[in-house]
Amino acid sequence: METVLLFFTLAAATSAYLLWFSLLARKLTGPTAWPLVGSLPYLYLNRRRIHDWISGNLQTTGGAATYQTCTIAIPFLAKKQGFYTVTCHPKNIEHILRTRFDNYPKGPTWQTAFHDLLGQGIFNSDGETWLIQRKTAALEFTTRTLRQAMNRWVNRTVRTRLWVILEKAALDRTPVDLQDLLLRLTFDNICGLTFGKDPETLSPGLPENPFAVAFDSATEATLQRLLYPGFLWRVKNFLDVGAEKRLRKSLQIVEEYMSGALEARKEAPSDDLLSRFMKKRDADGNPFPSSVLKRIALNFVLAGRDTSSVALSWFFWMVMSTRRVEERIVEEISAVLAESRGAHVGKWVEEPLTFDEADRLVYLKAALAETLRLYPSVPEDFKYVVADDVLPDGSVVPAGSTVTYSIYSMGRMGSVWGEDCEDFRPERWLSPAGDSFQPPKDGYRFVAFNGGPRTCLGKDLAYLQMKAVAAAVLLRYRLTLQPGHRVEQKMSLTLFMRNGLRVYLKPRDLVAPPKAAVSA
Ligand code: HEM
Ligand SMILES: *[C@@H]1O[C@H](CO)[C@@H](O)[C@H](O)[C@H]1NC(C)=O
Repeated sequence: METVLLFFTLAAATSAYLLWFSLLARKLTGPTAWPLVGSLPYLYLNRRRIHDWISGNLQTTGGAATYQTCTIAIPFLAKKQGFYTVTCHPKNIEHILRTRFDNYPKGPTWQTAFHDLLGQGIFNSDGETWLIQRKTAALEFTTRTLRQAMNRWVNRTVRTRLWVILEKAALDRTPVDLQDLLLRLTFDNICGLTFGKDPETLSPGLPENPFAVAFDSATEATLQRLLYPGFLWRVKNFLDVGAEKRLRKSLQIVEEYMSGALEARKEAPSDDLLSRFMKKRDADGNPFPSSVLKRIALNFVLAGRDTSSVALSWFFWMVMSTRRVEERIVEEISAVLAESRGAHVGKWVEEPLTFDEADRLVYLKAALAETLRLYPSVPEDFKYVVADDVLPDGSVVPAGSTVTYSIYSMGRMGSVWGEDCEDFRPERWLSPAGDSFQPPKDGYRFVAFNGGPRTCLGKDLAYLQMKAVAAAVLLRYRLTLQPGHRVEQKMSLTLFMRNGLRVYLKPRDLVAPPKAAVSA
């Protein structure tokens, strides 16, 4: 008797679930969803090409090339509805980032996950807390002093360390992992810029640096919190095991290092961001306490570290595979340097770019922007929905859900960038005469630096740094991929290369441009 009852209860529950599911499935526009597991099997099968998978779904959604929005059912993780809304529609993205900015904050999931590492810093806060820091920081980022400071740090790392390492590798004919070198270089630069201390992680022999290792491991452990349902990390945190234990230990090391840096700056202020924030007063007229200053600095380190090195890695890879672009870049730099330093080629590779020289490199800037269009350092981004809303393309997003926008997919939509969207073609960023950089008029077709009130503060600094490094490498060397090396994307919030970028360096023979080109 009891088994019969149990059987009927189960059958009723199953039918109710299947009915609910078929209603849900009708609303879904993305990949096929299965009962209980949703689209997880596809996600799993595509785990090594996740961004291309998302992009493929967005291209085929609803059968119409202009939809650019779809839903992906992931049970448990997408708590509110059981599925995620993913979009790369420029109008939707403008709506989220600018028009209805207040309705789309980072939100509680993101903030709690990052809280231990970033506190209430600019990168991890919303509302008033964010606005005060944004205003203060925005003032600093418009000054020329900060650009000068960045240029000094780049100049130093390139001359005394990057060139030394590359020269040795070229002489010995050994390959280098360019991504690793670049990660170290930008980490050193951002630490210098933020708190005036260069940890010299880029040095011959590539030493392990406890602060850098701890910072990496804290970021990695924090990201894990976002990948799994929230209760999992809370349990681990309570028990102090696994990633949570690593996080706690790494944070201790990071804290100590930052305390040291803060003390040093108190004794000898300089032109770094921390020294500037030390002079500021909060809303009540008090200086920021040490604990807050340390968090502020860490937020800038996180915001500005991997993004430019990852972009540079993809840039070098694209340049290696498109020799036409490489030649034009080298020609442009040569022409600019011939004018500022004279026709003697030796002078061009003696010193990194000054920033007036960097400012004149429009084709190089176009090639960097084109790289970020195809390989945005932040490939997917998420916002929390405060109140029920309808996106410009008609997609409904309920309060409490998450909306994902795919920056990566945006660059690969024929309907947004034209039929040749997959081609690496810097020319699309130039004015018709080819002599100035001209981003698309509809700014929300390119959001690698975000848009609206939360636009990346470091964009100009990043271009300056990337140009200087690109020129420093390309003027001296031709790069070739180490045979057999596979360039693949890593599944992470930042678009790293999973296996790095292993290249051989061959000294480049530069030629002075003919006189006519110099005076042109
Ligand atoms: C190629 C290099 C870079 C790229 C692609 C990039 C991209 C981005 C993106 C997508 C965001 C928005 C993140 C979000 O809120 O979801 C952002 C924010 C930010 N970036 Fe960058 N970034 C780069 C370099 C830098 C550098 C070098 C710095 C610092 C010197 C920096 C400082 C910041 C800050 C402070 C924010 C937070 C702005 C706010 O929330 O108000 N970035 N960046
Ligand atoms: C780089 O540093 C060297 C040595 O301090 C200096 O002579 C040179 O002018 C600097 N170059 C730039 C572009 O700042």
